[in-house]
Amino acid sequence: MEKSLIILKPDAVQRGLIGPILTRLEARGLKFIGIKLSQISGDLAHKHYGVHEGKPFFAGLVSYITSGPVLIVAVEGKDVIEIVRSTVGATNPVKAAPGTIRGDFGVNIGRNLIHASDSPENGENEVALFFNSEELIRSERSV
Ligand code: CMP
Repeated sequence: MEKSLIILKPDAVQRGLIGPILTRLEARGLKFIGIKLSQISGDLAHKHYGVHEGKPFFAGLVSYITSGPVLIVAVEGKDVIEIVRSTVGATNPVKAAPGTIRGDFGVNIGRNLIHASDSPENGENEVALFFNSEELIRSERSV
């Protein structure tokens, strides 16, 4: 069973795209185990995006992701990393296929609407970074 962390970034929230994006994720049959609206602190942003530290876009990425409210979503299930990433589309919306979230709603790599974990290991770690265990629905309870 995999977990994926999804963040609807400040541009998605500001543009009123929470509903349309969640509709697409739900329509694929994903199981949501945690959802919260939050403003990410600088400390948390540095931890989450630590792998990009040193890259030219890092400072902008941190200041952008902390600039306004975001919707943080955890999903769980078989193959959820691949399912979510194929629904989200390529990191650069210019290259993202039509029919994907980024391909249909975005044009800018820095304002690409949504983050999704890129591996099962990162999915586990990112969900644990953003959610306490009490904030997550456990499989046994969700029937
Ligand atoms: P995300 O999936 O959240 O992971 C890292 C983010 O860095 C990525 O989405 C982009 O929004 C952002 N980013 C900004 N500039 C670049 C760039 N030149 N190359 C890759 N990612 C970038």
